[in-house]
Amino acid sequence: MEKLIKSVFDPQLIKKDFPVFKRQVNGKSLIYLDNAATTQKPESVINCIDNYYRKHNSNIHRGVHTLSYESTVMYEEAHKKVADFIGAKDWKEIIFTRNATESINLLAYGWGLHRLQEGDEVLITIMEHHSNIVPWQMLRDLKGIKINVLGVDNKGNLKLDELPGLLSEKTKLVSIIHASNVLGTVNPIKQITQEAKKVGALVLIDAAQSVPHIPIDVNEIGCDFLVASGHKMMGPTGIGFIYGRQNLLEDMDPFMYGGDMIEKVTLTESTWNELPWKFEAGTPNIAGGIGLGAAVDYLENIGLQNIYNHEEELLRYALEKMSEFDWINIYGHKSDSESVGVISFNVDGVHPHDVAGMLDEQGIAVRSGHHCAQPLMHDLSMDYTARISFYVYNTKEEIDLCIETLKKVKKLFG
Ligand SMILES: Cc1ncc(COP(=O)(O)O)c(C=O)c1O
Repeated sequence: MEKLIKSVFDPQLIKKDFPVFKRQVNGKSLIYLDNAATTQKPESVINCIDNYYRKHNSNIHRGVHTLSYESTVMYEEAHKKVADFIGAKDWKEIIFTRNATESINLLAYGWGLHRLQEGDEVLITIMEHHSNIVPWQMLRDLKGIKINVLGVDNKGNLKLDELPGLLSEKTKLVSIIHASNVLGTVNPIKQITQEAKKVGALVLIDAAQSVPHIPIDVNEIGCDFLVASGHKMMGPTGIGFIYGRQNLLEDMDPFMYGGDMIEKVTLTESTWNELPWKFEAGTPNIAGGIGLGAAVDYLENIGLQNIYNHEEELLRYALEKMSEFDWINIYGHKSDSESVGVISFNVDGVHPHDVAGMLDEQGIAVRSGHHCAQPLMHDLSMDYTARISFYVYNTKEEIDLCIETLKKVKKLFG
């Protein structure tokens, strides 16, 4: 990508870095507003993966030959890039996984299965994605732990006044979503972390919707674990990561056992490799990891603060325009609290799948469904919503076109 001058932020210029925007969908230029599901990939990420397979492809940590050495260095370098990106002190605190879901499962098995006892409590919120609910239900059924749930008020914010009542010395883990993939709400994770620490609980942040959009510093937050998915931050699918405090990761048991995660194996016993390899059993997604490193380079080149500011501008613009129509019902965004560029909404009298279908006819990609957050949907008395979500390459003109199409949807169905 052309080196961006940080003060000049031009989404039209950025768009040129993404080959997918050269194509048409249903005869129209693609407008991609489904970024909370997954993001598009810049040329630099695609080229990086292509280049890896063309010139360096080899297994890591297994050979003294040149290609293996190069792959190993590139893969380790990708861990370092992710570590620097989120302010981790050491790259050994970064474990590559398949995605945020696998990251939370790894922690539930590697930490929770061995550390939690009957009667221990895990606190989540009603805003969680299923990936931060179901693994704890598995542990509840296996270990007899209790899951407490912090609710959401009618403005779309966590009921923080109820937090102290849900925390006690029984709370061993507070596992919370940073930015909601339904409401866009950005939760005050630093404050929640401080409260959790008062009762000695560990804190896990599901940053799948925040790491790609907001500058993050794990040490400033004070959390113990943080997870995210590469594909939501312009990286390839099949790669995600865990940040974990080194002493905790060293103390934790592996999740997967076999090659590469060992130091020494005899027929009767084995010892574990150093971090992060102890948690990366078998041949990892080498190309995916290196591609994620390229995505981090791309994001850093633009600057996370620039990304956040741009999305904030799009969000305010879209909310203002959409609120002109009383037949558009928006969920959340009822206060001035911080948000990422995610808007869930419904059109009166029209099923969200029909909304998404008609937008698609105009080349506009949006999501409709329960967004893997059924407990929150239930709380909102809702089964499904349509959802638009922004990223660096979106523009106000695209929002205008989306709203023009929504007007047609309303006319046709409503
Ligand atoms: C907040 C949040 N957490 C976790 C996930 C799970 O991500 P993945 O499917 O990449 O594991 C998502 C995906 O939408 C999400 O929005």
